[in-house]
Order: sequence, then structure tokens, then C-alpha cells
Amino acid sequence: MIICRTKPELREARVRLGADRATVGLVPTMGYLHDGHMALVAAAQAACDCVIVTIFVNPTQFGPNEDLASYPRDTNRDLAMLEAAGVDAVFLPGPDEMYAPDAETIVEPSRLSRILIGRLRPGHFRGVATVVTKLFNLAQPHRAFFGQKDYQQLTVIRRFVRDLDIPVEVTGVPIVRETDGLAMSSRNVRLAKADRAAAPVLFAALQDGQAAIAAGESVAHARRTVRAQIATSQAADIRSVDVRDAASLGQVDGPPIDPVVILVAVRFGDVLLIDNIVAHPPEAQA
Ligand code: PAF
Repeated sequence: MIICRTKPELREARVRLGADRATVGLVPTMGYLHDGHMALVAAAQAACDCVIVTIFVNPTQFGPNEDLASYPRDTNRDLAMLEAAGVDAVFLPGPDEMYAPDAETIVEPSRLSRILIGRLRPGHFRGVATVVTKLFNLAQPHRAFFGQKDYQQLTVIRRFVRDLDIPVEVTGVPIVRETDGLAMSSRNVRLAKADRAAAPVLFAALQDGQAAIAAGESVAHARRTVRAQIATSQAADIRSVDVRDAASLGQVDGPPIDPVVILVAVRFGDVLLIDNIVAHPPEAQA
């Protein structure tokens, strides 16, 4: 496995890996890898000749009072997991390698980055879109793989890739869950024991909301169902429960006709967990 710490090292690895018209897959991560990340790697390996993984805790996507300093990190363990999985190259830049001190150019989808999580975390999607654009420019992948757990992030990335004609095919990979339903996340390790025990309420609530939409109920009814179910846990501090059009994340009223996505953002202690589920109304069922 080639380990690159600088941009020139990554560019050189990319030239080597992409020789003989090999297709290159990219898996951008912030490290502290779990089975959800390894599912991205497996999807990339199944679809591409070689795979580059990036590990970079991107400071520009964290707000001033967020968990940048306490975000979990374990580079040696990450590298061992990637090596064992047969990844071809890893890019591990530091913040100074990624950003010039006077960097001033950003990528920011205007509507999509201000709604939902963008309202709770102003500037977050600007940081994501900018760093992912830089990683695409550096690694020049044919395809890139992102988890559907970060549903809005995936929608933001698909949108700027389309809008800016970036020649990368973006693939969303299904959420990987613990056996009790909690979506895998690097942040789960920061949950207190009681909060970890309570957190599966999110998936249970999302499934109830999905069943309500499948039964032809309105968006407002599904939202109330999800909220009420999460509120049964005293540990849960609900920040948002939304039901949006699954493709555009636009507002939907009444009983939906097209698939919707139910998105939740809930704090347990000082850890913000997000999760989602796509729901098909009766008309849209296969
Ligand atoms: O999903 C993540 O881990 C990050 O937001 C990403 C896409 C690697 C950008 O920093």
C-alpha cells in the first residue's frame, strides 16, 4: 500500500496506479474507520481496478464550537485495516498540506448547504464541498464512494459534481448498522454508556416513519410519528426531524407521491447523531 502525505506524492501514486487505463476509485474519509467505511472500500474495489482512500479530519467543515479537537483519531489502526483490505494507496495530509494559509476559494451549493444540517451547522457543507473538490482534483478518480448515512452530504456532492461538470461518477453506499440498528459512525465511540444504549431509538423511529409513508400517511403524520418515538428516550435532545423529497431534498406536503427521505439529527450528551431512511409512498412502491 502506497502511503502519501503530500500532494506531489499523491499525484505520483495516481499516475502509477492509473497506468494501463486502470479505473481509479476514491474513498474520502476522516479516519477512525469502521465497517461503514470498509463497505465503501469494498464497493470501490468491486467497481474499480484500484482504490485510493483519503484520511483527513477537515477543519473547515467544523464550526468553532464543534468537536474538531475531540474527533476520534487512530491512524495506525486505520492504516492496518486498509492494508489488510488490499487498498492501493492512502492519502494522509495534514491541514497545512491541504490548505494554503491565504486560501480564499470555496465551493458552496447555495440552497442545499443552508437547509437541514446546514442550518444546524452553518458553513459545514461549504467545508465538505471545498475539500471534496480538492480531493477530486488531486486524486482524479473515475469514481468516488460516499455513505448514504450522510444523505445531505451525498446530495450536496452529487449536485456540485453535476453543476461544475466534474468528471467523477459519485456512488452512494447503503448505511451499515450495528446489530441493534444504530448507524455506524466514528462519533458513536464518544457516546456515554447510557446514551449508546438509548441511541437505537433513532432507527426504530425511522422505521415507524417509513411504515407510515408506505401506508399512505402524510408527511406531517410521519414527522410526528418519528418525533414522538424519539421523544420516548429522555436522553435524546431532538435537533431536527424532516421529511423531504428524496432526490432534491425539497419540501413536501400532504401524502407524498414520490419517494421521500426522513432525516433526523439528535444530540445524546454532546454527540450529534444523524440518521435517515428512504420511504416509498404506496404509488411509488415497486
Ligand atoms: O463524510 C466524511 O467523512 C467527510 O465529510 C468527507 C466526505 C471525507 C469530507 O471531509
